[in-house]
Amino acid sequence: MNKRTLAALEKQPLEGLRALVRVDFNVPLVDGQVTDDTRIRAALPTIRWLTGKGCRVLLMSHLGRPKGGPDPKYSLKPVASALEKLLGAPVRFITDPLADDSERQSRQLKRGEVAVVENTRFFPGEEKNDPALAGALARLGDLYVNDAFGSAHRAHSSTEAVAHLLKPAVAGFLMAKELEYLGAALERPKRPFVAVLGGAKVSDKIEVINTLLPKVDELLIGGAMACTFFLAMDLEVGNSLVERDKVERAQELLERAGKKLVLPAGGVGRLRHRRGHPPGFRAPH
Ligand code: 3PG
Repeated sequence: MNKRTLAALEKQPLEGLRALVRVDFNVPLVDGQVTDDTRIRAALPTIRWLTGKGCRVLLMSHLGRPKGGPDPKYSLKPVASALEKLLGAPVRFITDPLADDSERQSRQLKRGEVAVVENTRFFPGEEKNDPALAGALARLGDLYVNDAFGSAHRAHSSTEAVAHLLKPAVAGFLMAKELEYLGAALERPKRPFVAVLGGAKVSDKIEVINTLLPKVDELLIGGAMACTFFLAMDLEVGNSLVERDKVERAQELLERAGKKLVLPAGGVGRLRHRRGHPPGFRAPH
């Protein structure tokens, strides 16, 4: 892999530097409690490596999809508490990275100390990849680490624009591991090579499906995104989540994929046809 990773900084003096780290702490919350901390645990190797080097660590993430500004429901405070328990050390919280004294707060962290910055999506520039927001975020760090594999497909201020402003800008250990596994799976696949894709948003993945199709032996689609394919097959989907502007593309992929593309049996076998018959798809055995 030729991407620059944290490991490349092993010999550099990092003590006292502020590491601004983009993580994916988009975790489920119920009544203000994290109900699945898998993503927080996944970031621990990077966090611990940096604190071990004496860095001041500032973690940024989005959480959910708040609309138009701060919404307490999507605050990262419960995530900071969960992280505190996992690290067994206090975690500070920076409520407003745009505030005048946020840079001072970042510099006041002790060596090896960790802070979580409030939800990046509370700031309107984030999803627009706004350079001004990126500039404000960059003031919190001396180097940049992207360990948010789950968010790396989005060009947002905290994932893309900010990476141009801090040097070095490297991938964290989680990102490096994911890229290594994915790279090996795609370049030197063991056969049979079966890909399983799920989730709600077919728009995010439809071009991934397009890219994977020639490489895989079978491609299994699950989750709500299967419904857009059901609609493309002319099956009744009721009130299920579908992305109508992707139906045509889904049809093209279904035609190209033939038997390679496998959809959930519950849908293909049981849904009513709106009209006509579906093309030659098959349900899992
Ligand atoms: C995810 O959970 O899929 C990632 O954190 C990205 O979230 P998003 O789809 O809201 O950008």
